[in-house]
Amino acid sequence: MKISSIALLLSIVSEISAFTVHYSNTNKNAGLRLTSMELSARKPFITGNWKLNPQTKGEAIELALGIQSSITGKSPCDVGLFVPFPFIGAVQNAVGDKLVVGAEMVSPQDAGAFTGGISCSMLKSIGVDWALAGHSERRTIFAETDDDINAQCLKLIESGMNVVLCIGETLQEFEKDLVGAICEVQLKKALAGISATDMSRVTIAYEPIWAIGTGKVATPEIAQDVHATCRQILVGMYGEQVANDTRILYGGSVSPESVDGLLAKPDIDGALVGGASLESEKFGRIINFEMAEAPMIA
Ligand SMILES: *[C@@H]1O[C@H](CO)[C@@H](O)[C@H](O)[C@H]1NC(C)=O
Repeated sequence: MKISSIALLLSIVSEISAFTVHYSNTNKNAGLRLTSMELSARKPFITGNWKLNPQTKGEAIELALGIQSSITGKSPCDVGLFVPFPFIGAVQNAVGDKLVVGAEMVSPQDAGAFTGGISCSMLKSIGVDWALAGHSERRTIFAETDDDINAQCLKLIESGMNVVLCIGETLQEFEKDLVGAICEVQLKKALAGISATDMSRVTIAYEPIWAIGTGKVATPEIAQDVHATCRQILVGMYGEQVANDTRILYGGSVSPESVDGLLAKPDIDGALVGGASLESEKFGRIINFEMAEAPMIA
């Protein structure tokens, strides 16, 4: 155990130094262009998570069409939907390539005797290249461990897919001021073995468990605080450039009323939306959130 964590640390350290060299080279001749790349690197990403909804294929298609129709050329973000397996094909057909259609989970195994499992290869073969991992409901209700979640992340990356890794603390942990510690443990365990380069295919979703489906929303200030902490943890793991380029979404009772305030915060790069993604009108408003005014340039 000790030896493998030392090995992991060493490999992270060597990746970071390799990466730093790479980027300082880019820096030299990129000049101003790098600044605009930095700004666009974190285009907001707003995605629904349908969970165990809706109950029929017809409803799924109707909802997907409603959501798709509210994406205009002016929508300020990338849009995604994580939908139940049986509806993936139908939703893909309904929305074309206007938005990302992803899976709500994957099995960490490749193939074989795993009844009920869904492999990355199966998903790739139908054109899916995004999945969620680590959602608190998978952790608590389906007893997925940090090791399971790490294995899913590794399998997704190895398969050339993208992952939205969900992390977050319970109310008790929040009240005991353990948010930073919980996020650090969950990030480090889930991302173990994932290189700095592969981080371009990782999106983080911070979801305080006490705010999921409860109607309680972390204030934009609380969320910003935790997002900044998570970014600092990523700086420690992968260096500043990777941390700056990684999108950190907020999840937990995001609504048309709360979205503008949340997305105005500098470290909140989008949202993972539960309940409100089941109503096309609400979700349509969320993906067309009001952009905060650009900061004044001195
Ligand atoms: C990362 O972002 C911070 C805050 O915007 C900025 O000060 C810093 O220069 C950035 N670092 C890199 C390596 O881009």
